[in-house]
Amino acid sequence: SLPDHFDRPVHIAVIGGTGLTKMEGYTPVAALNPLTPWGFPSAPIQILEHNGVPIAFLARHGQYHQHAPHEIPTRANIAALRHIGVRTIIAFSAVGSLREEIKPMDFVVPDQIIDRTKGIRPFTFFEGGLVGHVGFADPFDAKLAAVVKRCATAMQGDGVTLHSGGTVICMEGPQFSTRAESNMYRSWGGSVINMSALPEAKLAREAELGYQMICMATDYDCWHTTEDVDVAMVMKYMEANSVNAKRLVGAVLDELSKQEHGDLVMATHWQGTSAMGVKYC
Ligand code: ADE
Repeated sequence: SLPDHFDRPVHIAVIGGTGLTKMEGYTPVAALNPLTPWGFPSAPIQILEHNGVPIAFLARHGQYHQHAPHEIPTRANIAALRHIGVRTIIAFSAVGSLREEIKPMDFVVPDQIIDRTKGIRPFTFFEGGLVGHVGFADPFDAKLAAVVKRCATAMQGDGVTLHSGGTVICMEGPQFSTRAESNMYRSWGGSVINMSALPEAKLAREAELGYQMICMATDYDCWHTTEDVDVAMVMKYMEANSVNAKRLVGAVLDELSKQEHGDLVMATHWQGTSAMGVKYC
């Protein structure tokens, strides 16, 4: 078993979603399970060595996929990553497509989110006497998005299609949408739909971490067909394309690890607003 401590700060993290539950080809050097004020993270954080640079990997749904989307301990996840030194997160997610041109197995680097969670997930660090309001107009990190786009472009000949920009609808779930909802999201300009962009992106912003999601389409959601979306369909496409998903994330990690101490990774995403009005009781 791996050591439960690591003596250097880890600046770069990957949060893996459905179908990306581990990263192969890296050397695991530790497994950290820090207890935060919000409990334990979804799973022990794997520390992987990549060209001598430590990378944190966290399985969002847990080691055994035991956390449903509304049960993910996202505050613990973000606090634990921040605690071990993380400044930049690449988050992976399987999504339904709301656009004809986004085909199953295509990748999307979104730049916007519409919140359709129901307020039942703990969604902020700022409460109980600690008051803060962070800007969230642009929920993702454009510099990280540019890295992902460059990596995907280099892989285009190998069956990787990337859509640059787009709006993720984050729904509550765990049930999939009705056809009326799916069509409404299309009319709102949604590109893809998932259940896990939030509160993760909001909490990463509150924790002043750089955050970019990479989406992979696993289905067309129910607007497209007369069938229901089901988990078997999502898993079929996820498995069919998991090699490309791992290669894309790996290429992004190559780039980030070259700049482990550089601005791309270490830039403080301090909003200037998060500390405003903070009152310690
Ligand atoms: N994740 C993967 N496919 C999805 C869909 N159609 N709706 C919501 N979340 C999803």
